[in-house]
Amino acid sequence: MPISIEPTGATLGAVIRNVDLRTLDEDTWAAIEQAFLEHALLIFPEQHLTEAEQVQFAERFGDIEILVDDRKSIPISNRPDGAILGDESHHMQLLKGNEGWHTDSSYMPVSAKASVLSAHVVPKSGSETEWADVRAAYDALDEETRSSLNELNAYHCYFHSQAQIGHKVEVGAGYGFFDGEPPLHPLVKIHPVTKRPALFIGRHIKRIAELDEAESEQLVQKLMFFSCQSPRTYRHAWRPGDVVVWDNRCVLHRARPYDQREERLMLHTRVKGDPATESALNA
Ligand code: OGA
Ligand code: MN
Repeated sequence: MPISIEPTGATLGAVIRNVDLRTLDEDTWAAIEQAFLEHALLIFPEQHLTEAEQVQFAERFGDIEILVDDRKSIPISNRPDGAILGDESHHMQLLKGNEGWHTDSSYMPVSAKASVLSAHVVPKSGSETEWADVRAAYDALDEETRSSLNELNAYHCYFHSQAQIGHKVEVGAGYGFFDGEPPLHPLVKIHPVTKRPALFIGRHIKRIAELDEAESEQLVQKLMFFSCQSPRTYRHAWRPGDVVVWDNRCVLHRARPYDQREERLMLHTRVKGDPATESALNA
């Protein structure tokens, strides 16, 4: 059976079936890569990849960004050591942070290209992931707004986004928590391959450099609200074995809440951005 690529009906996302990500021939990979560029979010139900197989699939998109120690994937789990963690723990606060719309590694000197996420243990309800299409959001703005945004740049800072949910983090406390000036990225970024412009926004924005604090806050909130609604959003209810990949250069995402007494275990592999196009302006 040939590969099936079914667009979600939102402005982003397609569900891909009749494919085994472990054994892609050249033509099938070409179709997937093309679909990734077009839909920016691909959902592959029932793949059941091992960690090594997931990394191998992610490496088709590029080199892996190492988030912890020497491991190429990290578990996203509410009980990393077996026991349920307290809400106030550093780890749970990071997971809580994922519930705000963001793009991965925008707070790093080189922001990420893509993320691969798979489900292993999922709660009975809630715990979906949701994505928003910031290409379509840019396109839907009026021309005057678009050209004013083209002139702006924003600082992205993980300390800031965590502080917004009441989580105070020390320098050196983990990936992304480094000292010094936060990375500065254009507010509108041109996709390096498709050349489509997209709003480069999300919860990690600390401040738009050219605006005062109140104006900056107001504009970011307005753009986030506008971007993250129908028909620009898609929500996936996970089943164990599902694998998803999204394009961090033009998509926002967030986790949805669930009953923390139930276990949730996901596996995340992050693909590095190309320094030629994803580097911060002040890197
Ligand atoms: C991530 C992330 C959302 C989720 O893995 O980067 O934000 O639903 N995950 O776990
Ligand atoms: Mn994320």
